[in-house]
Amino acid sequence: MRAVDLIRRKRDSGELTREEIEQLIAAYTAGGIPDYQMSAWLMAVVLRGMTRPEIAALTEAMLHSGSVLDFSYLPSRKVDKHSTGGVGDKTSLVIAPIVAAGGLKVPMISGRGLGHSGGTLDKLESIPGFNVNLPLDEFRRVLATCGCSLIGQTAEIAPADKKIYALRDVTGTVESPALICASIMSKKLAEGIDALVLDVKTGSGAFMKNIEDAANLAELLVETGKRMGKKVVALITDMNQPLGCTAGNAMEVAECIEVLGGAGPTDLRELCLELAAWMFLLGERVKTLDEGKKLSADLIASGLAREKFREIVGLQGGDVGVVDDPGRLARAKHSFVVTSPLAGYIASIQCEQLGVAGVVLGGGREKKEDKIDPAVGLEFHKRIGDAVERGEPLCALHYNADTRLVEARSLAETAYRIEPEKPKTVPPLIYRVIGA
Ligand code: URA
Repeated sequence: MRAVDLIRRKRDSGELTREEIEQLIAAYTAGGIPDYQMSAWLMAVVLRGMTRPEIAALTEAMLHSGSVLDFSYLPSRKVDKHSTGGVGDKTSLVIAPIVAAGGLKVPMISGRGLGHSGGTLDKLESIPGFNVNLPLDEFRRVLATCGCSLIGQTAEIAPADKKIYALRDVTGTVESPALICASIMSKKLAEGIDALVLDVKTGSGAFMKNIEDAANLAELLVETGKRMGKKVVALITDMNQPLGCTAGNAMEVAECIEVLGGAGPTDLRELCLELAAWMFLLGERVKTLDEGKKLSADLIASGLAREKFREIVGLQGGDVGVVDDPGRLARAKHSFVVTSPLAGYIASIQCEQLGVAGVVLGGGREKKEDKIDPAVGLEFHKRIGDAVERGEPLCALHYNADTRLVEARSLAETAYRIEPEKPKTVPPLIYRVIGA
């Protein structure tokens, strides 16, 4: 196999065989193919797409680039959730402790920020000491002890995705249903889970900008999971505006602690309750979705979910004091408030621009080796449909280094469209459920 031949074939809209895909992935994972050739092939996939057999072969090649875990020795069902990514999308940190507190096991292998979207691992690492790089033995021990562990891909878990994900992040090759499907499902199928809830985002801050593309991706993900014998549903949820009131690693952790404490923004709380309810339902812990929602709300109200979060943080080496006092998290030295140039109503938000504003301030990566500043973030004061006065704050940028503040300001200032009339509709939180 010559990588250049596979790149040219995909460039010309040709189809690769299962064997060719297996060889390509194995060679890249082993270091036998350079990043520039893999990048070229990934771009060809973004532009030309992949057939269903190619996607199945890619997912399985990436899954089998490492070990597939088996937790069948642990009592109770193993369930997980995964989101395709967005701005302020922080539900994992709330849902994982709720579901573990409810008696199911949550072996969660997550990703880092990708493009303009944040990642669970980067958020968790803003908790001082929190180790997302547990070796597998330790992952197993934490999971058996408290019912949940949140880690990144180890060298053993879907190492092909780990390498390819980092490359896609910085080569403009994220937005491909085939690549997203293979990336998500190779990690998730390696976790030894029985069931998976997928949160497929759509809108201006999602990788899938329109609902039909999101539905196609959701169907692809559900079909792949079911073919591998898992119970899977996908919720298509809104990302036309940030989820909750913050985007930025430490700020999002603080917001999740608020939700676990029974407060926090309504949209974030509602989506967490819904996703956790689906996990309880697929994990056969409850018989109906309503029962699942009630159980989730009760676990928050009783403090058990928050307690579970504290236990996870402690077992993974993090500062548990953060759970009682989020003021211990990193805080940016400077803020800039973006105000409304006119009075009216928020008609729409260019949500991706807000995510990029956070990245250019240092809250995300533009190159694989970039270091993230956990304190960087955005705080959102207005949502679609809200009334706004001239000069009223729309959002605030929190930063330490001002080298690219001008760029971030311009992105945030132009992200809001303000109209004199109140919009007739505001985006719903959830559009559809696929695979139920
Ligand atoms: N999340 C992933 O794990 N992979 C993607 O490609 C996109 C979102």
